[in-house]
Parts: sequence; C-alpha cells; structure tokens
Amino acid sequence: MIHARVAGTGSFLPGKPVTNDDLVARGIDTSDEWIAGRTGIRARHLADPDVTASQLAYEASVRAIEAAGCRPNDIDLVIVATSTPDYIFPSTAALLQARLGITSGAAAFDLQAVCTGFAYALATAEKFIRSGSHQRALVVGAEVFSRILDWDDRGTCVLFGDGAGAVILEASERPGILATALHADGSHNPILCVPGQVSRGQVTGDPFLRMDGQAVFKFAVKVLGEVAREVVDQAGLSLDQVDWLIPHQANIRIIQATGKRLGLPMERVITTVAQHGNTSAASIPLALDLAVRDGRVQRGHRLLLEGVGGGFTWGAVLLEF
Ligand code: ACO
Repeated sequence: MIHARVAGTGSFLPGKPVTNDDLVARGIDTSDEWIAGRTGIRARHLADPDVTASQLAYEASVRAIEAAGCRPNDIDLVIVATSTPDYIFPSTAALLQARLGITSGAAAFDLQAVCTGFAYALATAEKFIRSGSHQRALVVGAEVFSRILDWDDRGTCVLFGDGAGAVILEASERPGILATALHADGSHNPILCVPGQVSRGQVTGDPFLRMDGQAVFKFAVKVLGEVAREVVDQAGLSLDQVDWLIPHQANIRIIQATGKRLGLPMERVITTVAQHGNTSAASIPLALDLAVRDGRVQRGHRLLLEGVGGGFTWGAVLLEF
C-alpha cells in the first residue's frame, strides 16, 4: 500500500515583527491590551508592498526541499493554497514552479479554501500520491493578507499577517497521513468574505476583508471540535493518542476553546498566533515548521492539523510525522 508521508517542512516570514504598539504608532485606534486580550496576538509580519505570495512561497519551499533532501526536479506536483495570489492568473503555483526551476513539467495549481486551504491542499496531494499517479508533492500555504485589509477597519486589520509554510509530501511504504476530512457550507459565505471582483479594468464591489467576528468565533469552535473527532475516529484512534494539535491560528480563544472541547491540554497544542497573527492558509504549515525545528514535533509523533475559514470551509488531517 502506498502512503503519503511528510519528508520535510519549511517556512518564511517577511521582515521584522510588527507589534501591536507599532500599529498604534502607525495611527490605528487600538491598543495592545485590546488586541492581546481578545485574540492573543502580540505581533505579525507584514510584507513590503512589492513582495508577493509566490516570493514568500519560494522561500518556504526552498527550506522544505532542503529539509526533505530532494531536488526541485524530483517534485511532480505543486499545490499552493492561497487567497492572495500574485495575479488572477497564472496561478501562484505555476509562478512558484518557475521560480524553483522545476523543468520536469510537474503539475501546478492553486487551491482556494481560505484559512482551511492548507488542510485542503495536503488532503488533495495525499490522494494524488496514494493513487500512484504522483510521487512527490510540494504543498504550500502562502499569503499576503495585508493586501486585502482595510487599514481603516480596526476590527479586522489588527488580526492578520503575512507568511508562508511548505511541506514535501512523498510516497512511502511507511504510514504518513492516516485520515483526512474536508467540509464546506457555502451558505455561511457572508460572515467572512472579500466581496469584490475585477471587471472592465476596475475592482467592483468591496476589495477588503469583511467579517462578523462573533459569528465566526461560534462557528469555528463548533466545527473544529467536530472535524478533529471525525479524523481521529476514521483512523481508529482516540484523542489520547494524538501527540500534537496544530490548529489554524486565528485567535487564541478559539484555540483554547477547541482544546478544551477535545480534552487536549494546551501543552499539546502548538500556537504561533501571538507572534504571527492570522496568516490564513499559511498558519498551519508555519506552526508545523516552527515545532519541527524547535524539536517539539519528532518523527513518529501523531499530529492533528485542522483549519476553518471563509466559505465556510473546514477540515482536518491526522498524520504520523
Ligand atoms: N481595538 C480597540 N477596540 C476595538 C478594536 C480594536 N482593534 N476592534 C473593535 N473594537 C471595539 C469596537 O469598536 C467595539 O466598541 P464599542 O463597544 O464601543 O462599539 C468593541 O471593541 C467590541 O467590538 P466587537 O466587534 O463586538 O468585539 P468582539 O468582542 O466581538 O471581538 C473579535 C472581536 C476579536 C474579532 C472577536 O469577535 C473574535 O475573536 N472573533 C473570532 C474571529 C476571528 O478570529 N477571525 C479571524 C479570521 S476567521 C478565521 O481565520 C477562521
């Protein structure tokens, strides 16, 4: 039986951390006390205006490829989860493929599931590998959310940051991904959206992120609990047998409430929201890479990755690292 196993991880954050006090100094009517108290966020990274998602993806991918000990041309599938692509087209994945010098004709496409994008992309790559059609996938979450923030809306602009995380997923005889679950309910689309479009050479509608924070909070806690149990059940395991929960990093209170629902103490939950803010599709692979590199996540550990985001979408991947 062919399994899909994580061979290496990498991540990248642009520039220096921008603290909550830095935002106040930039003229945003907020405070460290309000942001940290309600969300746990203390800082985020913001890309310079000319830096794109494919550039952040490239830096994270180079690190993942190095960690996996392979070469760019060994990759036969590139999937980039992003809601902030460089262009309408070509895809960020195609631009990344070119930047990495992959000349083997590897398939490359973007995947749009907002903050659940990385879980969707990893589950998708796993299906390609387990079918036998592909051997080695580069799976990336990359975002420049700072581009779609209304910096006059203090209720949203303080929550997000930019960054990228990547994994190499490859065919293996040893177990890797144990179970996946992906869901969506598009009827909830108005509670988190960027309801604009390009038409006749102009953006029509609203080009900025809009959110009903309290509705998002309730929905997120409910589905993150459900989908975590779903993948653990699917694998025939119990939550006690999960070493690390690596959730999408939107808000520490959502993460704490999810951990509590699942009976997982915070010592077994990887959090980066304090330092990174919410980096949407990049947040899970950024947290994974951090915990791999600081030695918390070890080979053989069972990891539960899960996300929720606009759409609404939600999903989880249970894997043995
Ligand atoms: N600084 C200071 N005051 C603020 C700020 C700010 N940045 N933003 C809003 N306020 C004020 C409001 O104006 C309001 O003031 P008022 O009472 O005088 O009218 C007050 O704070 C309360 O505003 P609410 O919007 O009701 O704040 P709430 O307590 O709901 O907290 C928050 C907002 C933190 C967004 C919360 O709803 C939440 O945690 N939601 C979860 C959503 C989330 O994390 N989304 C991330 C993206 S979604 C995802 O990734 C899945």
